[in-house]
Amino acid sequence: MKIPLVDLYAQYQLIKPEIDEAIESVIKKSSFIRGEYVQEFEKGFSELLGVKHCISCGNGTDALYIAMKMMGIGPGDEIITTSHSWIATSETISQTGAKVVFVDTERDTFTIDVNQIEPKINSRTKAIIPVHLYGHPAEMEPIMEIAKKYGLKVIEDCAQAHLAEYMGTKVGGIGDIATYSFYPGKNLGAYGDAGAIVTNDATLAEKCRKFANHGALIKHEHHMEGINSRLDGLQAAILNVKLKYLEEWTAQRIKWANMYDQLLHDIDGIQIPGKKEGCRHVYHLYVIRTRKRDALKEYLADHGIGTTIQYPTALPFLPAYKYLEHSPKDFEVSFDHQDTILSIPLYPELDEQKVQYVASHMKQFYYLNGAKG
Ligand SMILES: Cc1ncc(COP(=O)(O)O)c(C=O)c1O
Repeated sequence: MKIPLVDLYAQYQLIKPEIDEAIESVIKKSSFIRGEYVQEFEKGFSELLGVKHCISCGNGTDALYIAMKMMGIGPGDEIITTSHSWIATSETISQTGAKVVFVDTERDTFTIDVNQIEPKINSRTKAIIPVHLYGHPAEMEPIMEIAKKYGLKVIEDCAQAHLAEYMGTKVGGIGDIATYSFYPGKNLGAYGDAGAIVTNDATLAEKCRKFANHGALIKHEHHMEGINSRLDGLQAAILNVKLKYLEEWTAQRIKWANMYDQLLHDIDGIQIPGKKEGCRHVYHLYVIRTRKRDALKEYLADHGIGTTIQYPTALPFLPAYKYLEHSPKDFEVSFDHQDTILSIPLYPELDEQKVQYVASHMKQFYYLNGAKG
């Protein structure tokens, strides 16, 4: 049996007639940039999340950059974020001219450790960017309390957390603004690059909409200089089809993750991903921890099972941030995770047999190799 880490083609096959029709209709109408499909998506996505405004854009990286720029973040400011994320979270901070300030993560959920945020706040701090990494919500209640206490903005990076919930509220509607990625492999994925910003703040929404479209809401009326970051009609039409299935696919992800939990939790040598009370983890990735990570990865590959390490180097230890001169003891948890994390196959189109197959090979590996190492 071969089980890839994700299988995007399997999903396409299930909805092929709808997707093919959507693509054809965009081409027929030449609705390539902005237009009715983009409007339909923005409406549908904001309604699904329960937020007032959705501004679509080119990708999740642009979404972060646009959001920060339009919140007035720039040179002289400091922005606090997690040490464990994709580089888009931190590189966009630098792109605004602000300074990146990393905070270590929680051991079980991989999200920002809220207990370590306050010591990093000073008079230059302007915002906090929590990342709902792998689909598990960051601790938003204490984050919002800290933000209120120090007058900071909160930008939720929801790139991996479509429909995740924190204490009954969908992520994306808790902070001042939130950003999404629809990169193909995401829980809601386009067939190319795509992203969005959501907020309940009408003024901020309008600014973002303008900035993403060359500073104009109406053609040729440029109120400021902006950038070109637009969702295209083809991606919007594809996302409109997929949006209808997102809840169902999310429930499937949770089902397979719960099954993995059941099958893996008592294997000595593996820590299954943490899941906090009151949180809806949407399992963009199912990430285990093990001291025998590299050998396990190889063993699973030999048995046709795809895995990945997201991410092999925590942000502060990337060459890109060498200038910050961090050492492993500054981010002990993230540093440790570099050598222990492993993502195993998780996508809605899995089935019981495949989940069993993956789990049984993991069991077999520890039976043959022992837990320690
Ligand atoms: C946590 C996080 N933030 C931001 C991004 C950037 O999104 P995009 O790839 O759409 O630019 C990603 C995507 O990989 C991500 O995982």
